[in-house]
Amino acid sequence: MNVIRNFLDLADLSRDEVVDLLALAQSLQSRPEPTALAGKILGLLFLNPSLRTLASFQAGMQRLGGTAFVVTPGQGTWQVETRDGAVMNGGAAEHVREAIPVLASYCDALGIRSFAEGKDLAADLAEEQFMRMANLCPKPLVNLESAVNHPCQALADWRTMDELAVPRTGKFVLSWVSHPRALPLAVPAATVHMAAQRGMDVVVLRPEGYALPDAIMHKARAAAAASGGNVSETADRESALRDAHVVYAKEWGSPLHYGDADGEAKARAPLGGWCVRESWFQHARADCHFMHCLPVRRNVAVADEILDGPRSRVIREAANRMVVQMAVLHRLLKGN
Ligand code: CP
Repeated sequence: MNVIRNFLDLADLSRDEVVDLLALAQSLQSRPEPTALAGKILGLLFLNPSLRTLASFQAGMQRLGGTAFVVTPGQGTWQVETRDGAVMNGGAAEHVREAIPVLASYCDALGIRSFAEGKDLAADLAEEQFMRMANLCPKPLVNLESAVNHPCQALADWRTMDELAVPRTGKFVLSWVSHPRALPLAVPAATVHMAAQRGMDVVVLRPEGYALPDAIMHKARAAAAASGGNVSETADRESALRDAHVVYAKEWGSPLHYGDADGEAKARAPLGGWCVRESWFQHARADCHFMHCLPVRRNVAVADEILDGPRSRVIREAANRMVVQMAVLHRLLKGN
């Protein structure tokens, strides 16, 4: 694999192609290429907040000799409308139908972050909003997190497990954890697929009512079938964590109450015990790693004792964001 056109979904790559991309990330870390992308410009359009994605893409681009500009609509630039056919008599002065091709004309590749709308599950599962914008972009495009995907996070998490020598077939538990409100399905969807594509024994641990949508589970199971992995789900914490190599915590909203804040609030009210603590690891492997994509609400989703303790790999995951994204940018822009 030499050049890639877009980086939208890890599922667009074969397992071997992901391994190849991670080898390039390792190479760029051990043998820096500070002029590889000299003269190249990356545009970054953030329709939602960020810390890691925003900073790591700019830093990575600079480390490869290129530059980046950031646009955060409504914060110094016009608010943008994303809906087709909208009557724009509200706050948004600019439509993505103009904004995206304009921004693309200034850069060599564009990254877009556009979270789920959180109203219509079928529309979000189909990535309708992100794909509308993708279809407006004439340049190589990077998914900085869409409704049901976060391929940059997934790639960094795969690398993190490789660095930690987590076995390819190791047991990977994706656990739902508590949060004051519903969060999108992007990270759980990308994570369950990534671990399945890596070839792992994946268990989705979640309370009743929080099963991931069928489309997400089917996609992960297809990846597992291709890589020799396995995907199952349960609400039983003890069996899920038994002999686990990795516990990956994530907050997400119930598909049963999608777009219904009151229903969601009632459903999660009794689930405050889903905050990861050391007692969860009683039956896990002694060296079981703890992962989370960040940001994380301390002592709501994950206890201080975990985040500050020896199992936590959250800083390493975040650091790996820059490393793997440099490989993605290299593939997108070097010689392109
Ligand atoms: N994990 C992640 O994407 O972090 P940000 O939302 O801060 O970019």
